[in-house]
Amino acid sequence: MEKLIIQGGTCLQGEITASGSKNAALPILAATLLCEGPTTITNLPHLQDVITSIELLGSLGVEVGVHQQHKIEVDARRLDSLTAPYDLVRKMRASILVLGPMLSRWGEANVSFPGGCAIGSRPVDLHLQGLEAMGATIVIEDGYIRATCSGRLVGCSISMSTVSVGATENLMMAAALAEGTTVLENAAREPEILDLANCLNAWGARVTGAGTQTMAIEGVASMTGGDYRVMPDRIEIGTYLAAAAATRGRVRVAGAAPWALGAVLAKLRETGARIDTGDSWVELDMLGRRPRAVSLTTAPYPAFPTDMQAQLTAVNAIAEGVGIVTETVFENRLMQVQELRRMGADISIDGNTARVQGVVRLQGAQVMASDLRASASLVIAGMAAEGETCVDEIYHIDRGYERLEEKLHHLGAKIKRIPG
Ligand code: EPZ
Repeated sequence: MEKLIIQGGTCLQGEITASGSKNAALPILAATLLCEGPTTITNLPHLQDVITSIELLGSLGVEVGVHQQHKIEVDARRLDSLTAPYDLVRKMRASILVLGPMLSRWGEANVSFPGGCAIGSRPVDLHLQGLEAMGATIVIEDGYIRATCSGRLVGCSISMSTVSVGATENLMMAAALAEGTTVLENAAREPEILDLANCLNAWGARVTGAGTQTMAIEGVASMTGGDYRVMPDRIEIGTYLAAAAATRGRVRVAGAAPWALGAVLAKLRETGARIDTGDSWVELDMLGRRPRAVSLTTAPYPAFPTDMQAQLTAVNAIAEGVGIVTETVFENRLMQVQELRRMGADISIDGNTARVQGVVRLQGAQVMASDLRASASLVIAGMAAEGETCVDEIYHIDRGYERLEEKLHHLGAKIKRIPG
C-alpha cells in the first residue's frame, strides 16, 4: 500500500485551482443513463471514484469516450446489461445512484446491495421506499436489489423521513422519466443537488425547487442529453483552506464557488482567519497566527457539512482553546481522533462529540487513514506537526482528492508518496 510522507512545520502559501466536485460528478455520471442522445461532461475530477463510475457505465454497455483527463463523452442509447455488479458496487457505494435512472429508462435495474463503510451503516431504505412509492417492485435476493416496474414509474409525492443526499438524487433521476409529477419533501439541499438538477434540466428534464426542501420533477417522455460542466468541489476547497489555517498560512483557491461554502467560511473566520472571496475564488489568510479553537455541529446543508468535520477537528487539535465537535449525520465519523491522539492531540470523545483541547504542537507519527475525510485531516495534522508523519492506507485519499501531493507541494508542503 502506498504511503504519504510529510515533513511538518511548513506554512502553506500560494494559489491552487479547485477540481470538479466528486459528489456532483457521481450522480451526473449516473444521469447519463437517462439520455437517448449523447452527453458530454467537462470539469470531471480525475479521481478513483470517477474512474469506478466510468467502469460501471462501461460494464452496463454504455459507450464512454475519455478524450482528456477532465472530459468524457457518453452514449447510453443502448445497454447490454441492467446489472451493476458486486465487484464494482463494493468499491464505491455511490454505485447505488444508477438504480433510479436505469429503472426509470428501462423498467428494470439490478444493483448489488451496497454495504456499509467505515463511517456508518449507510442504509438505502429511503432510496427503495421512494422507488416503491413510484410503482417499482423491489426484491432483495442473492445480495442484489432487483427493481422492476411495468410501464413507466408514476410520479407521486414522497416525504423522506431523513434528509438524504443520495436518496434525493436517486429519486430526482427516477422521476425525470416518470409519468406525471413527483414532489420530494424534506429533500436534501446540498449544492451538488442543485448541480444535478441543473444538469438534468440541461439534458431535457423538468426539475424545479432544487436547493429547497421541496422539489418538483415533471416527468418527460425522453431526455436528449447534451453538455454539462461539473461544479467546483466545495469540500476539496474547504480542505485546503483548513490546511492553510492549521499551518498559519495564506492560500487562495481559484475556480471556486464561494456561495457553496457559507457555513465553512463562517467557521474558519471564527478561528481568526481573514477570508476574502470573489465570484470564483476564495482566500484564507491566517496572518501568521495560531488559530482559535471553534465548536461545530454537523448537519445537512446549509449547516456545517459532515465532510468538513474531520478537517476542522485537525485545526482544533493545534488551536488555542477548546473546540467541541459534534457529528450528527453519520454514526461513526470520529475515527480520525484516535490517529490524531497518536500525534499528541488532546481529544476526548463522548458519544458523537469530541472535546478538542488545542496543543501548541503536534508530533509527527505513523498514522493510518480510515476513510476519505479522516485521511485529509491526518495530512493537515502532519503538515502542522513537528517532525515526520507517515500516512498509511492512502487509497482512501485517492478516492476524493485529485493530485493532492502536487497541489500541496505547489503550496510549499514537504510531502511525497512512496510505494508501500
Ligand atoms: C453523500 O452521501 C456524500 N457522498 C457523502 O460524502 C456525504 O457525507 C453525505 O452525502 C452527507 O452530506 C456522495 O455524494 C457520493 P446521505 P450519502 O444519504 O448520499 C441516512 C464524502 O466524504 N440514510 O445524505 O450516502 C444515512 O445513514 C462522502 O465525500 C438513511 O437512513 O449520504 C446518514 O445517516 C462521505 N437511509 C444520513 O441519512 C437512506 O436510505 C445522510 O446520508 C439513506 C441515508
